[in-house]
Amino acid sequence: MRLDKLIEEQLHTSRKEMKRLFLSRKVLIDDQLEMNPQLNVDSRLHKIEVAGQPLQTKHVYYLLNKPAGVVTAKKDARFQTATELVTKHERPADLYPVGRLDRDTTGLLLLTDNGQLGYALLQPGSKVEKTYLATVNEKVTAEDVAAFAQGIVFHGGIVCQPAKLEVLSVGANESRVRLTIQEGKFHQVKKMFLACGKKVTALSRVAMGPLRLPPELLAGEYRGLTESELQQLKKYFR
Ligand code: URA
Repeated sequence: MRLDKLIEEQLHTSRKEMKRLFLSRKVLIDDQLEMNPQLNVDSRLHKIEVAGQPLQTKHVYYLLNKPAGVVTAKKDARFQTATELVTKHERPADLYPVGRLDRDTTGLLLLTDNGQLGYALLQPGSKVEKTYLATVNEKVTAEDVAAFAQGIVFHGGIVCQPAKLEVLSVGANESRVRLTIQEGKFHQVKKMFLACGKKVTALSRVAMGPLRLPPELLAGEYRGLTESELQQLKKYFR
């Protein structure tokens, strides 16, 4: 959470006192003087010390294996939502999914109540890679691989950044591919194949940034991020 919010919440400081704390060099993060009140901090990742007092945060970070049929909205009148898969006593009110997967897309979804982290991960400038396994209804060719590497142009003219397409298997009328993209346009993967005249018939996200979908996590299951997974996200706390 934002450092100044944490200080305000736990030390009940006024605006004036907050300013003074920073100016009088009383705010230390990982034993270093910190001057950015908006820094995103988590006590699992940072040693937070203000006027000699250690402060603790209480954020949650879950890896969910999203099943088909579930939507990545916070609330939905018709369908179950990704956050509703988290049991009530482990679900803070502001838990939300970082990014969006279509209802029929399965796989890795990060859920957190740290909005600032989610925002940072979704910024185009962060260039967070997303890897998908897809089944496509036709043969995926070397020309398709080259077109993805070049930058697919959607029907309508929107140009995608270069993407890495790997063909895993090609059957008579079905291909299995692995695709890594850095963007998150609406229905991006499906539209990229549509631009090549092909249809995605199954789609699953297996990686996002440093996070991998754990093979033991069944569809619909979730678990908290491990210390090592969280550490790998530390660079996005800013
Ligand atoms: N691209 C898509 O087309 N759908 C998803 O759910 C994710 C990426």
